[in-house]
Amino acid sequence: MTVEAGERAARAERVRAVASGLRDQRGALLPILHAVQAEFGHIDQADLPVLADVLNLSVAEVHGVVTFYSDFRNTSPGRVHLRICRAEACQAVGAEALAEHASAGLGVGFGETTADGAVTLDQVFCLGNCALGPTVQVGERLHGRVNPARLDAILAEAAR
Ligand code: FES
Repeated sequence: MTVEAGERAARAERVRAVASGLRDQRGALLPILHAVQAEFGHIDQADLPVLADVLNLSVAEVHGVVTFYSDFRNTSPGRVHLRICRAEACQAVGAEALAEHASAGLGVGFGETTADGAVTLDQVFCLGNCALGPTVQVGERLHGRVNPARLDAILAEAAR
């Protein structure tokens, strides 16, 4: 077995174990997907048949759920994960300009990662910090009242 095939087999086994551990929950697919993504950074195409098998669903059903929710990624995120809130309250105070600044500065669109793997840009619709918008999340940390200059500083800090 090649190293790559061995890694694939090990991942499939681990995904099966995670899914088996949670499958008795109500609406088990979502918590399972979150758990797999938390462990591996993304949901791989190869995970779908394993999850379908454990949950007795079709691969198409699992695929439908994964692609419906923008929270699930099909590639690993960059070293810095930037999420910009584009919901109404943040939009009203400049989130769109901030989003355009981020996208132009990084040279990527939402859901994409810079070519060097440094930053993944994502959008999110409300981070629960509406009174202090525009809000962004970098990794686990929320930042409020972010303008373009401040965003650049936050990213520079996160990259260190
Ligand atoms: S609308 Fe942006 S944090 Fe709620």
